[in-house]
Amino acid sequence: MPVVEPDFSLPEPSPADQAKSLQLVAHLRALMEAAPLTFSDYMADVLYHPTLGYYSSGQVTFGAGGDFVTAPERSPLFADGLVYEWQQARADGLGAQVLELGAGSGQLLIDFLTECDRRGCIPDRYWVLEISPALRTRQQARVTAELPPQLAARVQWISDSAGLSDPQQGWAGGMVIANEVLDAMPVARFRWVPGEVASVRELGVHPVNGRFGWCELSPSEPLVAAVRDLAAHFGPVEPGAESVAAEINPNLTAWLSELRHSLGNAETRIYLFDYGGRSADVYRADREEGTLRCHYRHRAHDDPFVYPGLQDLTTWVDFERLSRLARTIGFAVDGTRTQAAWLLGTDVPARFAAKMQAITDRAEAARLSQGFKELVLPTEMGERFQVLRLRLG
Ligand SMILES: C[S@@+](CC[C@H](N)C(=O)[O-])C[C@H]1O[C@@H](n2cnc3c(N)ncnc32)[C@H](O)[C@@H]1O
Repeated sequence: MPVVEPDFSLPEPSPADQAKSLQLVAHLRALMEAAPLTFSDYMADVLYHPTLGYYSSGQVTFGAGGDFVTAPERSPLFADGLVYEWQQARADGLGAQVLELGAGSGQLLIDFLTECDRRGCIPDRYWVLEISPALRTRQQARVTAELPPQLAARVQWISDSAGLSDPQQGWAGGMVIANEVLDAMPVARFRWVPGEVASVRELGVHPVNGRFGWCELSPSEPLVAAVRDLAAHFGPVEPGAESVAAEINPNLTAWLSELRHSLGNAETRIYLFDYGGRSADVYRADREEGTLRCHYRHRAHDDPFVYPGLQDLTTWVDFERLSRLARTIGFAVDGTRTQAAWLLGTDVPARFAAKMQAITDRAEAARLSQGFKELVLPTEMGERFQVLRLRLG
């Protein structure tokens, strides 16, 4: 019996990738000998195991030929919108630094700095906080190859937020950007009758019939605390409601607190982009399998046990909870907007129109137009993606 049954509806990984995945499977099975893993621990390992995790090992591929396409990979107009915000921040007297969390392929930072160069508003420093060593290396190679030395010299990588807190060399205010970072954070998975804390059962992972499968566990303390806070802001439990699966990030408060602490009191505007919605959307009673999605070479499915370490796992962001926790921790909350509303409120529509007029190459015009549509149309990213804007200082 194979350790992981291949799912034949998905493209088969190369022999080298299969071997890598089986190494991770062996590691996970060894951990499960003592007891099942919580889904949160499973997700942390399949994405961030130092050498075998999907992100840490650099297995992830972005863009048209990869597993998924994020906004910066779709169009440089996304970076243009952020440069507009950056110029507003500078005009309002904020410090001259940018911090990008989780820079992926490095596309946004390259487009952002290139556009800043064009507009004469280059940041003094562009920090990249990237926890994946392989992605840091990939971003560094691209920056060296694609940016002129005077721009490349502004980029500084860190693997955790400690470096930002240095009183002399640390964060001096400006703008923080995170695109699709929150959805890639490990979450606890549980079953519950929506709104009823007493009904919560944590979902764990254990070996079953030669592959991994779900099991139910007593909920951990952090999960109960997170669900209790969530349920307190929920409507009354619907009579006769059935139990459904759901996910929550119990470490969100700790993550926000660390960010708050490392940014200190310097005036800062923070933009957190992701897909998700309000609590009532994320925890809808008819969402029987929660919002967990897996991405493997442009196929989206809901089996997190296929090809461990070779596929992305993500969940929706509850922007209502995120805003509430951010406010509790001391951020000023400027509110959540859809990606479309945000982008259309910048100078991007005017720049897009001007660029379209200036372009003579039809293929280039079609690409730019397609990218704009993908960023703003409700049937594409426009409504599904949101941005939460926070402020400090
Ligand atoms: C889905 S990718 C998005 C990449 C990029 N922002 C984009 O839009 O294309 C998630 C990125 O966040 C990074 N990441 C995950 N957790 C992080 C954390 N706690 N701090 C910083 N980066 C993180 C991953 O290594 C990866 O680079």
